[in-house]
Amino acid sequence: MADVSDNAKSAVPHHVAIIMDGNGRWAAARGLPRVEGHRRGVDALRRTIRSAGEMGVKIITVFSFSSENWSRPAAEIGELMGLLRRFIRNDLAELHKSGVRVRIIGERAGLEADIGRLLVEAEELTKDNTGLTLVVAFNYGARQEIARAAQRMAEDVAQGKLKPEDITIDTLGGFLDAPDLPDPDLVIRTSGEQRLSNFLLWQSAYSELVFVPVHWPDFDRAVLEGAIREYQQRERRFGGLTAKTAQAGS
Ligand code: IPE
Ligand code: IPE
Ligand code: MG
Repeated sequence: MADVSDNAKSAVPHHVAIIMDGNGRWAAARGLPRVEGHRRGVDALRRTIRSAGEMGVKIITVFSFSSENWSRPAAEIGELMGLLRRFIRNDLAELHKSGVRVRIIGERAGLEADIGRLLVEAEELTKDNTGLTLVVAFNYGARQEIARAAQRMAEDVAQGKLKPEDITIDTLGGFLDAPDLPDPDLVIRTSGEQRLSNFLLWQSAYSELVFVPVHWPDFDRAVLEGAIREYQQRERRFGGLTAKTAQAGS
């Protein structure tokens, strides 16, 4: 099968965002506790970061813990927090060495202090790296992100720094958690679910969505390549007409 890099290099999506779903079901299908699925999910994340970089993807955003995931049992939340701590402690040096720049999006307030410090450490250590950008969406919800942006924008209005009539899409976009990053070209969700679950609602306005049936712990380079191939077959129109669609209607 043709390698995705055989296609025009420009057709490899610049920014890929992934909803890493199905860890619990992966474990249940094997008679294992859910946490085992989450552990194997971290292995899948490592593989995916490596593959994405090798394939020419420049930015990868991964949904690791949602604002709504706090509604899970305390024991599972504790295990997920433990895995994040371990991922940063064990993998940060290696990510840094391979030139990865780590960014975090999501709500920082209210997190345990040591986790907050680890997130800052990951961003600080890697801030000058020019390789793959890894954006970790942690304690992230898109509606919450937009509401925080609106709050900060309203403060500027209250202070007379911004006029309501001057507010544009770009103004609001500028108050989001990582305003300098381009929107995802491709959003992949694993586990067969076909919904966004409050992920990047603003930024995915024109993203291509690809849903794959595999559970996240089974995600690998071949699945990523398959999703990218599907993306490469899509025709992105952004509301306009491409040469192909214009011709069909004339
Ligand atoms: C994704 O797997 C990981 C997180 C949401 C933290 P799930 O834990 O949602 O696994 P399923 O969807 O229950 O199988
Ligand atoms: C989305 O998965 C959140 C993450 C992958 C971190 P969920 O498992 O929380 O989503 P729902 O509940 O099935 O919509
Ligand atoms: Mg799930």
